[in-house]
Amino acid sequence: MFKTITEGKAKVKISDQEKISSDLPVFYNPKMKLNRDISILLLKIIDKTEIQVCDPLAGTGVRSIRFLSETGEKIRSITINDKNKESFRIIKENLKLNNLEEDERIITENRDANALLLESSGFDYIDIDPFGTPNPFLDMASRRISRDGILAVTATDTSALSGTYINACKRKYWARPRRDYMMHETGLRILIRKCQLIAAQYEKALLPILSYAKDHYMRVFFKVAKGKAKVDEVLRHHGPFNEAGPMWLGKLADVKLLSKMYAVAVSQHYDIDYDFLRLLKEEASFGVIGFYDVHALSKQLKIGCPSMEFVNSKLKKAGYTGVRTHFSPYALKTEMSKEEFIQLLKDKKSQSL
Ligand SMILES: C[S@@+](CC[C@H](N)C(=O)[O-])C[C@H]1O[C@@H](n2cnc3c(N)ncnc32)[C@H](O)[C@@H]1O
Repeated sequence: MFKTITEGKAKVKISDQEKISSDLPVFYNPKMKLNRDISILLLKIIDKTEIQVCDPLAGTGVRSIRFLSETGEKIRSITINDKNKESFRIIKENLKLNNLEEDERIITENRDANALLLESSGFDYIDIDPFGTPNPFLDMASRRISRDGILAVTATDTSALSGTYINACKRKYWARPRRDYMMHETGLRILIRKCQLIAAQYEKALLPILSYAKDHYMRVFFKVAKGKAKVDEVLRHHGPFNEAGPMWLGKLADVKLLSKMYAVAVSQHYDIDYDFLRLLKEEASFGVIGFYDVHALSKQLKIGCPSMEFVNSKLKKAGYTGVRTHFSPYALKTEMSKEEFIQLLKDKKSQSL
């Protein structure tokens, strides 16, 4: 059975089962609203117009319906596909529910995503939002994304990427993960490198313009650039960190893009998690890899845990910047060495400052 809900400007029929699993007759996860909010906001603010969009794993079609209702005229065409027959039926119903059934920009398909991409002439924006790993779709998406397009990738197999299953990560992502307090940043960087390696074969350089880890998933938006030199430059930024990897050691996001997204969201009263967006924006302004988790380190050192404000003021006094990270509420990114940071935590005198 189905029920109708509203998300953003879309009305969508979804399965009325409470438990979210890939066994749902038609998949919809309310927890992924933020994933969709950020995608729509990004399309809203980029300079491109006449965008050819492909949503090859569309589920209920909610993402595409929101692209159409919330980014409006920017879209030249949108291909909404799902290989599941019931999904395909619901996508059509949902288009009707939103008065979009006669919109000539929309193409609906009920095919395997890879076959659809292979036989297409390419897209400016492809959104890979699978169950688990994006691996099966990376090759074809890399081939069909346009030379200055945007490729969006979600991965929900975070247990492999974050080091619960080391061998699974090595097999699927060709890198060693590490299960410690930095595991989500490590996993995200490993995912980025894997996508870049696949696209490199087609002389396409994938540069992350926005990436994050949240709840049970990781998400990356890549800007595509074509050419051997650009690909070689990307590959130069692969390497180990913190006894894990190889991984992407470059920037995780573009601060200008995030500042614009934040400003537009505020000015248009967009319904989004502003605290999260602000964290991403602040973090993007500071290109340091990794962070120090004050809670985890205090526990390891068996000392009382100081407040974040306190640690931050100590960092400032020592001449360093401390920036909060979305990867952990108890962590700071800073250029200070780990030894110095530990000393700062241990320093008893400083506790009374
Ligand atoms: C995580 S759900 C997509 C959710 C949707 N993008 C959203 O934002 O709500 C993944 C979808 O991919 C579809 N799918 C899985 N394998 C596929 C394939 N090879 N080709 C096309 N669709 C596929 C499933 O039927 C499912 O609806």
